[in-house]
Amino acid sequence: MAGRNGSTQVTATARIDVHLRPDDLSRALRDDARRGLTSTPKELPPKYFYDERGSLLFDEITRLPEYYPTRREREILVAHADDIARLTDAHTLVELGSGTSEKTRILLDALCRRDCLRRFAPFDVSESILRQAAGEINDEYSHLEVHAVVGDFERHIPALPNSERRLIAFLGGTIGNFAPDPRRAFLASLATNMHEGDVLLIGFDLVKDVARLEAAYNDARGVTAEFNRNVLRVLNRELGADLVPERFEHVAVWDPSEEWIEMRLRSTADQDAQVPELGLRVHFDAGEQMRTEISAKFTPDRIVADLDASGLARAAWWTDAAGDFGVALAERA
Ligand code: SAH
Ligand code: TRP
Repeated sequence: MAGRNGSTQVTATARIDVHLRPDDLSRALRDDARRGLTSTPKELPPKYFYDERGSLLFDEITRLPEYYPTRREREILVAHADDIARLTDAHTLVELGSGTSEKTRILLDALCRRDCLRRFAPFDVSESILRQAAGEINDEYSHLEVHAVVGDFERHIPALPNSERRLIAFLGGTIGNFAPDPRRAFLASLATNMHEGDVLLIGFDLVKDVARLEAAYNDARGVTAEFNRNVLRVLNRELGADLVPERFEHVAVWDPSEEWIEMRLRSTADQDAQVPELGLRVHFDAGEQMRTEISAKFTPDRIVADLDASGLARAAWWTDAAGDFGVALAERA
């Protein structure tokens, strides 16, 4: 059953619980945009990138030659999916921030070979991409129960489908999109909601050569730039704003003290934007930069420390052959 505010829809394709209606999301966007656009420096939270167009652009990013994380994580999953199946014997695979669930099929196949898996529960803030992915997997894996959840993983972890032996996967290095304190709070909320036999599988992008890191977030074709600017189109649509995406440049820089890539939008001119739904007029100086996303990169020691601080213990750890990306399996400590 869905939670108090949710609803459940059973269709010929898959079960979808909606904990976050489009209205809730635009209310949250109004609050976040008001706070972010009136603070100094300005900033916008990353979950609003992923409307339908944003999800398609991200999918394109995953195939760019510069964007190595998806390929590296896939390499690790191909090499170790059978180990993961053996170590977890999972009955339900929950996937947080599931997007297209493309790499997840490697896990689904291994868990099906072992014949332990009964249910797949993808969870994402983006309803359109989730419905599509859940429908496709429901068709391809006819013996699995597919139970998708539309929600915000910063708020709705307690609403995850419950069962014994859950494998909770959080792939793509999305963990790096949290700032350090919210990251530990998120991991702690997962730990609190895990029972004996539940296991967490998290993909971490690792610290490496700065040129490669910056190129991964600033590709030659400009797909990442378009993805970054998409958040302006979301504000225009949801809040009636008149931001002109072409008047903002994509910036992606490595911050060596924080060890994260910071994504920003730089105003190319002195300009004003109206945001009618907020009753706001927002001024941008020429050259002013608004932060839109961080993508933290990790060292194995920091991963262990973060897990430890959140009540989790690392049980297994794999990297790709080049040492670019890591996947950790963790249990409640
Ligand atoms: N797991 C996929 C997609 C990663 S992109 C991969 O490895 O390629 C990040 C995904 O997380 C997007 O699908 C986005 O919609 C989702 N997401 C971002 N913030 C979220 C939040 N607060 N709650 C739930 N999903 C979120
Ligand atoms: N989770 C992805 C990452 O940190 C998200 C991402 C990739 C992203 N490229 C981006 C976010 C560009 C904003 C802008 O790798």
